[in-house]
Amino acid sequence: MLDAKQLIANFDAFYKTGVSQMDRVHEEFLHLLVTAANSAEESFHHHMAVLFEHCQLHFFEEEASMAAFQAPEYDHHCREHKAILEVMQGHCDGAAEGRIEHARQWLKQDFIRWFDQHTRSWDSLAAEHVKGRESQSA
Ligand SMILES: [Fe+2]
Ligand SMILES: [Fe+2]
Repeated sequence: MLDAKQLIANFDAFYKTGVSQMDRVHEEFLHLLVTAANSAEESFHHHMAVLFEHCQLHFFEEEASMAAFQAPEYDHHCREHKAILEVMQGHCDGAAEGRIEHARQWLKQDFIRWFDQHTRSWDSLAAEHVKGRESQSA
Protein backbone atom coordinates (compact mmCIF):
# COMPACT_ATOMS: atom_id res chain seq x y z
CA MET A 1 0.00 0.00 0.00
CA LEU A 2 1.24 3.47 -0.85
CA ASP A 3 1.88 5.88 1.95
CA ALA A 4 1.97 9.69 1.62
CA LYS A 5 5.18 10.01 3.65
CA GLN A 6 6.81 7.49 1.32
CA LEU A 7 5.70 9.54 -1.65
CA ILE A 8 7.28 12.63 -0.10
CA ALA A 9 10.51 10.74 0.59
CA ASN A 10 10.60 9.49 -3.04
CA PHE A 11 9.28 12.66 -4.60
CA ASP A 12 12.32 13.49 -6.72
CA ALA A 13 12.66 9.96 -8.05
CA PHE A 14 9.03 9.31 -8.98
CA TYR A 15 6.96 12.48 -9.00
CA LYS A 16 9.19 15.38 -9.95
CA THR A 17 8.09 16.67 -13.35
CA GLY A 18 10.73 19.36 -13.81
CA VAL A 19 8.08 22.10 -14.00
CA SER A 20 8.89 23.95 -10.79
CA GLN A 21 5.44 25.41 -10.15
CA MET A 22 3.78 22.02 -10.62
CA ASP A 23 6.34 20.28 -8.40
CA ARG A 24 5.94 22.87 -5.65
CA VAL A 25 2.15 22.48 -5.66
CA HIS A 26 2.39 18.68 -5.66
CA GLU A 27 4.73 18.69 -2.67
CA GLU A 28 2.40 21.06 -0.83
CA PHE A 29 -0.49 18.76 -1.69
CA LEU A 30 1.27 15.72 -0.19
CA HIS A 31 2.09 17.59 3.03
CA LEU A 32 -1.51 18.79 3.38
CA LEU A 33 -2.74 15.27 2.73
CA VAL A 34 -0.49 13.87 5.49
CA THR A 35 -1.75 16.57 7.85
CA ALA A 36 -5.40 15.86 7.07
CA ALA A 37 -5.04 12.07 7.17
CA ASN A 38 -3.38 12.23 10.60
CA SER A 39 -5.47 14.99 12.13
CA ALA A 40 -7.57 14.57 15.24
CA GLU A 41 -11.30 13.97 14.81
CA GLU A 42 -12.23 17.46 15.91
CA SER A 43 -10.04 19.16 13.31
CA PHE A 44 -10.39 16.59 10.52
CA HIS A 45 -13.11 18.43 8.62
CA HIS A 46 -11.13 21.67 8.71
CA HIS A 47 -8.03 19.97 7.26
CA MET A 48 -10.15 18.25 4.59
CA ALA A 49 -11.56 21.65 3.62
CA VAL A 50 -8.03 23.13 3.39
CA LEU A 51 -6.96 20.21 1.18
CA PHE A 52 -10.05 20.58 -0.99
CA GLU A 53 -9.37 24.29 -1.57
CA HIS A 54 -5.75 23.50 -2.37
CA CYS A 55 -6.87 20.90 -4.93
CA GLN A 56 -9.28 23.32 -6.57
CA LEU A 57 -6.49 25.88 -7.00
CA HIS A 58 -3.97 23.20 -8.03
CA PHE A 59 -6.24 21.90 -10.79
CA PHE A 60 -7.27 25.38 -11.90
CA GLU A 61 -3.63 26.47 -12.28
CA GLU A 62 -2.68 23.24 -14.03
CA GLU A 63 -5.55 23.55 -16.49
CA ALA A 64 -4.71 27.22 -17.17
CA SER A 65 -1.11 26.28 -17.90
CA MET A 66 -2.18 23.40 -20.17
CA ALA A 67 -4.54 25.71 -22.04
CA ALA A 68 -1.85 28.37 -22.43
CA PHE A 69 0.59 25.84 -23.86
CA GLN A 70 -2.06 23.93 -25.83
CA ALA A 71 -1.19 20.67 -24.12
CA PRO A 72 -2.55 17.45 -25.64
CA GLU A 73 -5.31 15.46 -23.91
CA TYR A 74 -6.52 18.63 -22.21
CA ASP A 75 -10.15 17.48 -22.03
CA HIS A 76 -9.38 14.07 -20.62
CA HIS A 77 -7.00 15.52 -18.03
CA CYS A 78 -9.61 18.07 -16.93
CA ARG A 79 -12.23 15.32 -16.61
CA GLU A 80 -9.89 13.45 -14.26
CA HIS A 81 -9.64 16.56 -12.08
CA LYS A 82 -13.38 17.15 -12.10
CA ALA A 83 -14.18 13.54 -11.23
CA ILE A 84 -11.82 13.37 -8.25
CA LEU A 85 -13.05 16.74 -6.93
CA GLU A 86 -16.60 15.37 -6.97
CA VAL A 87 -15.53 12.31 -4.99
CA MET A 88 -13.58 14.52 -2.59
CA GLN A 89 -16.56 16.81 -2.12
CA GLY A 90 -18.58 13.74 -1.11
CA HIS A 91 -15.99 12.83 1.52
CA CYS A 92 -15.86 16.44 2.81
CA ASP A 93 -19.64 16.36 3.21
CA GLY A 94 -19.46 12.92 4.80
CA ALA A 95 -16.80 14.09 7.28
CA ALA A 96 -18.97 17.08 8.19
CA GLU A 97 -21.77 14.63 8.97
CA GLY A 98 -19.49 12.49 11.14
CA ARG A 99 -18.20 9.86 8.69
CA ILE A 100 -14.63 10.79 9.50
CA GLU A 101 -12.96 7.38 9.45
CA HIS A 102 -14.46 6.61 6.04
CA ALA A 103 -13.04 9.88 4.66
CA ARG A 104 -9.71 9.27 6.41
CA GLN A 105 -9.36 5.84 4.80
CA TRP A 106 -10.21 7.31 1.41
CA LEU A 107 -7.42 9.87 1.83
CA LYS A 108 -4.89 7.28 2.95
CA GLN A 109 -5.67 4.72 0.26
CA ASP A 110 -7.68 5.82 -2.76
CA PHE A 111 -6.59 9.43 -2.94
CA ILE A 112 -2.92 8.59 -2.57
CA ARG A 113 -3.27 5.97 -5.30
CA TRP A 114 -5.06 8.50 -7.49
CA PHE A 115 -2.25 11.04 -6.98
CA ASP A 116 0.40 8.43 -7.77
CA GLN A 117 -1.28 7.42 -11.02
CA HIS A 118 -2.44 10.86 -12.08
CA THR A 119 0.92 12.54 -11.51
CA ARG A 120 2.89 9.84 -13.25
CA SER A 121 0.58 9.86 -16.26
CA TRP A 122 -1.48 12.98 -16.94
CA ASP A 123 0.64 15.53 -15.10
CA SER A 124 3.90 14.21 -16.44
CA LEU A 125 2.48 14.25 -19.99
CA ALA A 126 1.39 17.87 -19.51
CA ALA A 127 4.75 18.77 -17.97
CA GLU A 128 6.71 17.29 -20.88
CA HIS A 129 4.64 19.37 -23.26
CA VAL A 130 5.09 22.57 -21.24
CA LYS A 131 8.85 22.03 -20.99
CA GLY A 132 9.06 21.41 -24.74
CA ARG A 133 7.17 24.60 -25.51
CA GLU A 134 9.26 26.62 -23.04
CA SER A 135 12.52 25.39 -24.54
CA GLN A 136 11.28 26.32 -28.04
CA SER A 137 10.55 29.86 -26.94
CA ALA A 138 13.79 30.30 -24.95
FE1 LIG B 1 -3.47 17.04 -13.17
FE1 LIG C 1 -1.24 18.01 -10.54
